[in-house]
This record gives sequence, C-alpha cells and structure tokens, in this order.
Amino acid sequence: MSTALVTGSARGIGFAIARRLSTAGHRIIMADLNPHIHDSAATLGAVAVQADISTAEGRAEVLDAVRSSGEPLEILVNNAGITRDALLADLTEEMFRLVTRVNLGSCYELTSALAAEMATGGAIVNIGSRAHLGNVGQFNYAVSKAGVVGLTRSLALAYAPRLRVNAVAPGFVATDMTDAMPEHVRERIISRIPLQRPGSPDDIASAVAWLGSTSARYVTGQVVYCCGGRSHG
Ligand code: NAI
Repeated sequence: MSTALVTGSARGIGFAIARRLSTAGHRIIMADLNPHIHDSAATLGAVAVQADISTAEGRAEVLDAVRSSGEPLEILVNNAGITRDALLADLTEEMFRLVTRVNLGSCYELTSALAAEMATGGAIVNIGSRAHLGNVGQFNYAVSKAGVVGLTRSLALAYAPRLRVNAVAPGFVATDMTDAMPEHVRERIISRIPLQRPGSPDDIASAVAWLGSTSARYVTGQVVYCCGGRSHG
C-alpha cells in the first residue's frame, strides 16, 4: 500500500482530498494545527499529526510520522493555507508575512524536506488558487499563491524525471474559509462563475486524485484550474 500525506486536512478541501485518496487505496497521513485533525483522521483510519507546518518543529513532527510509516511517500499534497484579507491600505506587514509564510513558505520547506525520501514515480500536488491572477483585498494571498505557481513549475524541472509536481488552482469553493466572507461578496463571486455554482471540496479532490495518479503520468509543471470556468479573471 502506498502512502499519501495531506496538509491542512482537518476540514474543507484537505479533508476531501484525504478521503478521496483513502478511497483510492492509499494509506493516509493527515497534518493540521487544528486539534480536530484527530477526529478527522479517525474517520478515515488515517494517521493524524497535529502540527503547525509553518514552523520547523511542526514540519519535523510531520517528517517523523512519514518516516515511521515505514514506506516511502508516494503522494504529497500541500493544501494548508490561510487568508488575512484587507485592502492594500489596511494590510499590515504582519498580515503579509504570515500569509506568505504559511501558504508559500511551508509548501517550499515541507517539499524540500520530503522530496528526497519520496518514492520514485511519486507526485506532489500543491493547492494554489485562481486568486494568483489578482484579487482586490487579497494582495498577500494572491502573492502567496502566485509564488506557489512559480514554485510548482520550478520544482517540476528540478525533480524530473523522478517526481512530478503540479498545482491545482481552485476558484470559489464552499468551505469554512469562504463562509467567513461577507454574504454580498460571496453572492457577487458566485454570480460570475460560468458553471453557476460554487465548487465543492470534492470537485477539487477529483483533480488532485487525478494528478496524483498514474493517469497523469505525463503531466508535470502544470496548473490545473478547477474553478467552474472563472480562471479568466
Ligand atoms: P480551510 O480554512 O477550511 O482549511 C484549511 C486547513 O488548513 C484548516 O484545517 C487549517 O487548520 C489548516 N492550516 C492552516 N494553517 C496551517 C498550518 N500552519 N499548519 C497546519 N495546518 C494549517 O480552507 P479550505 O477552503 O479548505 O482551503 C484549503 C486550500 O485551498 C488552501 O490552500 C486555500 O488557500 C485553497 N483555496 C481555497 C479556496 C476556497 O474557495 N475555499 C479557493 C482557492 C484556493
């Protein structure tokens, strides 16, 4: 049985990805700073690591869990992410640094720590966002997710042909993250989606499962927009 690690998987998109990969027969390691990770992992029979992956100590705990699984990691999904939205005039340096550290920094650090130990033929899938195209009120988030695109494309070159590295860029997905938006903002965004509905976490999990599987064996360095057609901006 092969092993897959999904970060930020206590809830939302990360949990749906872990469930999908578990159904596909992978042994799952789930990492999240939210203590709810223990319950989420228990429902899937997965290994839980409660850790903040934006810290060196947190990443070391994740690394320990991967090593103790006894099998080389086959799929790494860098999903953990946060928002700290504000108009540019109100954005503090702390909000900028925090979002780029979690969304981009931990993706780079965790991947660097794990890649050498991954199984040949393995796959890394980073969760970006269509927000990298630019979003009012999400300057820090857009920068972090644009960084994820650059990281994905560069690591794909660095790790080829041993590993594949791709990204999924979701559009608007109904999760706790987007539930936190004001109602009128959510309605305006949904009204602009060509497929006329928000994405579900499972819609994103489908794309991740494909990129992680051998069906996508000739795909690397790509960004798959999973956004109901809203990727045009
Ligand atoms: P969410 O807020 O529901 O879940 C994110 C999970 O990541 C949470 O369980 C949280 O505890 C965990 N997390 C955050 N920082 C962490 C850290 N430092 N260490 C460990 N775990 C951490 O968010 P959602 O909506 O499920 O988003 C998942 C990913 O998808 C994120 O990368 C997000 O940026 C991306 N995304 C989401 C979209 C949406 O519309 N919901 C759209 C585009 C991208």
